[in-house]
Amino acid sequence: MVDRGVADKLSVLFVCLGNICRSPLAEAAFRAECTRLGLDMEVDSAGLGDWHAGSPPDPRAQAVARKHGADIGGHKARQVTKQDFRRFDHIVALDHQNYIALARIKPASSSAHLSLLLDYVEGREGQAVADPYYEDAGAFEKTWVDVEAGAKGLMRRFLDKA
Ligand code: 4NP
Repeated sequence: MVDRGVADKLSVLFVCLGNICRSPLAEAAFRAECTRLGLDMEVDSAGLGDWHAGSPPDPRAQAVARKHGADIGGHKARQVTKQDFRRFDHIVALDHQNYIALARIKPASSSAHLSLLLDYVEGREGQAVADPYYEDAGAFEKTWVDVEAGAKGLMRRFLDKA
């Protein structure tokens, strides 16, 4: 039984390097879980770098999202900020580089919980979602499979605790 009162209050930020490939896909996969369950969580994504700030997701990420029923074309990349550590309960890194950088910039006063997305997938704990940016379209399909598994696992974890 879903405790909507508790789960509705949670907020999650997904973070990768550029916020144009992996984290917008993780955000989309997690939003799909929220929609499926009728939950109204605060969900967003951001990048560690600002190289792509203001840009829409990579066309290959948009294509794989579309294929799986999600429209991410309206997302605009942004860089993670110090305020994110106050605004979000959960900050979920897509790979180790992101995790380490986030742990370094996390203010001491922040109670945000930091984790890796694949920590929520049985047998994949501690693993990274591979960066597809320099790869082909097939890599983006694999990214979707990974972020969807992570999103479902994260939601299960939230609901177990609710
Ligand atoms: P993302 O992928 O971190 O999954 O958004 C990348 C996007 C851009 C770059 C690297 C990774 N880049 O080097 O510009």
